[in-house]
Amino acid sequence: MDRFKIQGGRRLEGEVRISGAKNAALPAMAASLLTAEAVHLKNIPHVRDIITMAKLLAHMRCKVESPDIPPSEFVIRAESVSHAEAPYELVKTMRASVLTLGPLVARFGYARVSLPGGCSIGARPIDMHIQALEKLGATISVDHGYVEARATRLHGAVFRFPKITVTGTENILTAAVLAEGETVLENCALEPEIPDLAALLVKMGAKIEGAGTPTIRVQGVDRLHAATHTIIPDRIEAGTFLVAGAITGGELLLKHCEPQHLTAVIEKLKECGVEIKCEGKGGLRVRAAKKLVAADVNTEEYPGFATDMQAQFMALATQAHGISHIRETIFENRYLHASEMVRMGANILVDGNTAVITGPAQLSGAPVTASDLRASAGLVLAALVASNTTWIDRVYHIDRGYEQIELKLTALGASIERVTQQS
Ligand code: EPU
Repeated sequence: MDRFKIQGGRRLEGEVRISGAKNAALPAMAASLLTAEAVHLKNIPHVRDIITMAKLLAHMRCKVESPDIPPSEFVIRAESVSHAEAPYELVKTMRASVLTLGPLVARFGYARVSLPGGCSIGARPIDMHIQALEKLGATISVDHGYVEARATRLHGAVFRFPKITVTGTENILTAAVLAEGETVLENCALEPEIPDLAALLVKMGAKIEGAGTPTIRVQGVDRLHAATHTIIPDRIEAGTFLVAGAITGGELLLKHCEPQHLTAVIEKLKECGVEIKCEGKGGLRVRAAKKLVAADVNTEEYPGFATDMQAQFMALATQAHGISHIRETIFENRYLHASEMVRMGANILVDGNTAVITGPAQLSGAPVTASDLRASAGLVLAALVASNTTWIDRVYHIDRGYEQIELKLTALGASIERVTQQS
């Protein structure tokens, strides 16, 4: 198992290229199941979740090809799918495997997907995915830890999501495009990954209106065809590098990002005193605050402050003057990084869904353990300002969603090393 050894206290400086968005690439790859023709996806991030999705598609007998190594593009052909099944072994390592449920039942009339179960950040049920597919005419049974969905052909329906769900919206959108008649989805997620998925589906011949608004209308079509699509930049990776610049007293230029997708994060960092401005096309320059000041944050659905940036903001708040309050409203158990930051010397009190951070605290290196993807990013950021050496265990979590983070940080002046332990 790999660990990171980080020597803190270095000011980061330079340019960093932001990769394609993992959470946009995953539903796009699943959407390639909707056609027998080639779907060509560009700007794919080379992260572990993407490799898992490629393995899952290959398990279903799709052809997944890439012109380069490591792959930044995929050409996926789902001519015939012989196993319409997402097995437990793959789903347990990546919940987003559930995104194959909608496309499989829509095109092949059958899907069997392992129930994801809970994970370290919360219970994370998929009840709304199931309810919506039933509304579209699928017969669903849940047995032996698997969801089985069957339909001769899905039909259009009106469905209102009782609560906003990102992958739920994506799963049902990718089912509705091949359903007979009109589907109206209400209370949909607004995250930029949804309009990006819709843009790919429209290139494939789908008829969709309103993606990126709460109400999405879909006129089902009989078949979809080949398309080429470039995945949007990763707004969470970009947000993480904004904090990296701010927390180390540095100055960074982020390239190939989409500042419009980062409005809430940029506003919050500016409130803390961090200087951020757009520079050229897809460029964002971050300059550390002269004096970092505390700010309060509630995590919210897009366009609010993303839960996926909460751990990184907490790391920053440990260095800000004053008291910051964080309220996590999306997931019930997303503070596992807080106790690790406390072990590094942070002053953080967690009470239910609220964390109170008093700063600034001098962090000192300690052995810590990553509990999930974004928690690991928060710990890396904390380690960048800690004195002495921090060892972070279980960095496979960070490899799920950050492309070569240690190489990108090293290029900016950080001292971070991947150490492979012999088991
Ligand atoms: N929920 C239900 N029932 C459902 C679906 C969701 O109760 O059927 C609840 C969840 O338990 C949670 C809330 O609704 O409390 C929102 O969950 P959502 O479904 O929106 O989350 P998700 O689609 O499973 C995606 C991202 C997450 C990100 C969340 C919130 C992907 C692959 N994952 O998850 O990303 O945190 O939206 O923005 O897009 C990450 O990248 O590290 C990550 C966890």
